[in-house]
Amino acid sequence: MDPRETQTGEGVSRRTLLLAGTGTALGGVVLTACGNHDGPADTSASASSGGGRDASGSRTLTKVADIPVGGAVSATGSDGGPVIVSQPSAGKVVAFSAICTHMGCTVAPARNILKCPCHGSTYNLATGKNTGGPAPRPLARIPVKVEGGDVVET
Ligand code: FES
Repeated sequence: MDPRETQTGEGVSRRTLLLAGTGTALGGVVLTACGNHDGPADTSASASSGGGRDASGSRTLTKVADIPVGGAVSATGSDGGPVIVSQPSAGKVVAFSAICTHMGCTVAPARNILKCPCHGSTYNLATGKNTGGPAPRPLARIPVKVEGGDVVET
């Protein structure tokens, strides 16, 4: 045994305990980081809402009825990327890439704004414009239309 190691009362070396503790701490960090990306999005309308393709290849992102007026929901775009679909006023629907323009974390609805959980950037949910934090640019706009109550990516 390495003379620098000490034994605990149960025969486990101090080094073993320290390594085990480090592994646990790293695991916690990894889980926390994953949680941030999937995170605190509005779960009332999940990314799984909508998602079907019609005969023309358009993708339904969500239903208008599932988007709160003055709010937004998370969805999945035709490329599989995260999307925000907002309804700033009744019947008016806009969509943006949910990829933060700072370092690429996933932006989520937060009441009447869009917010990045990583470094706190905020965006206007009607325009996608960056309104606070380190994000250097607005969110990328995604063209959508409403068809039969569905929000469809065009
Ligand atoms: S990645 Fe969004 S604020 Fe930094």
